[in-house]
Amino acid sequence: MNALYGLGQALLHALDPERAHDLAVKSLELGLYPRQAGPDDPRLAQELWGLKFRNPLGMAAGFDKDARAWAPLLATGFGFVEVGTLTPKAQDGNSPPRIFRSARDAAIINRLGFNNEGQAVALSRLSGRRNGVVGVNIGAGRDSEDRIGDYVSGVASMSAVADYLTINISSPNTPGLRDLQAPEVLAALLARVQEARGKAEKRPPLLVKLAPDIADADLPDIVRVIEANGVDGIVVSNTTLSREGVKDAALAAESGGLSGRPLFARATRMLARVYMLTEGKLPLIGVGGIDGGAAAVAKIKAGASLLQLYTGLVFEGPKLIGGIKQALVEAMTNAKAGSLAPLIGRDADRGADATIT
Ligand SMILES: Cc1cc2nc3c(=O)[nH]c(=O)nc-3n(C[C@H](O)[C@H](O)[C@H](O)COP(=O)(O)O)c2cc1C
Repeated sequence: MNALYGLGQALLHALDPERAHDLAVKSLELGLYPRQAGPDDPRLAQELWGLKFRNPLGMAAGFDKDARAWAPLLATGFGFVEVGTLTPKAQDGNSPPRIFRSARDAAIINRLGFNNEGQAVALSRLSGRRNGVVGVNIGAGRDSEDRIGDYVSGVASMSAVADYLTINISSPNTPGLRDLQAPEVLAALLARVQEARGKAEKRPPLLVKLAPDIADADLPDIVRVIEANGVDGIVVSNTTLSREGVKDAALAAESGGLSGRPLFARATRMLARVYMLTEGKLPLIGVGGIDGGAAAVAKIKAGASLLQLYTGLVFEGPKLIGGIKQALVEAMTNAKAGSLAPLIGRDADRGADATIT
């Protein structure tokens, strides 16, 4: 069976990246995927925001944009899935080609631009859902004249079906979106979003997803605004506009957001800085360049309570999920820890100053 999935993996890599992605989602929908063999080690479990995570490894936003495959993704062994980014109305995104892969760099550049079927379709796919943790990542429409209004309506409509909500103000592929990270604008956005959440029947925890390209000097004010506005957690980070560490010149020349191995150091350093700034009081989701057990353990030690990945799965395949969980269990055994808690943020003070590799 594993050989079969290996063959599938090889075939996917021979295809255009976007076709390969669509096929991967289709295979999941059809049930053609490897299922997790046994239950997770109980030491991997955590309760955060009143939600029970059976393990800390999640599928990052952007893979299951339209909430088609969250159930199979959970069955492969992920502890949670973040669907989206979803905008209020369906939109096509940028013109193809818009996903570029380099096996040499274990990296992807994408400039999709929030292609999605819109919130109403995802809402119907998610309603009636009972088990597993599914977060909903929301964004603003490309041509929207009221971007803050798009987040407000996203919170109002998706709260009913989301275990948590992520406000995505960090995609590099919707022009001007990252301007919403400016402290004054962010404060206005969060106040309105919180007001909308207050009115919703169900009030899921609210997370903010940040870009790894925020200047060091700007980060403290942004974190302060996030804390002052009652946000429950931070996702660090989205893709980068930097091309640092990319060897493949053809890949580096493409415009869009870079993810995968070359993003790891940048995103992990920022994670450690956010952990230090929040004094470990706010749960953080560490994402960016996790491609194996060592990288996953480093993210936890830099301050992540939960992890997410996307690009690593493209290059390593589903065996990565079990491998990472195994490495986390070994790290707890070595530290004589009964849970991940004593490891979270253990190296954050070092990581905030240096590059963790
Ligand atoms: C093809 C692709 C599409 C993505 N789409 C989204 C998206 O819609 N919303 C979002 O918040 N992040 C999106 N991301 C970013 C990922 O969620 C993640 O933050 C980033 O890729 C870093 O993690 P990784 O190095 O493990 O891939 C996308 C990433 C990729 C590769």
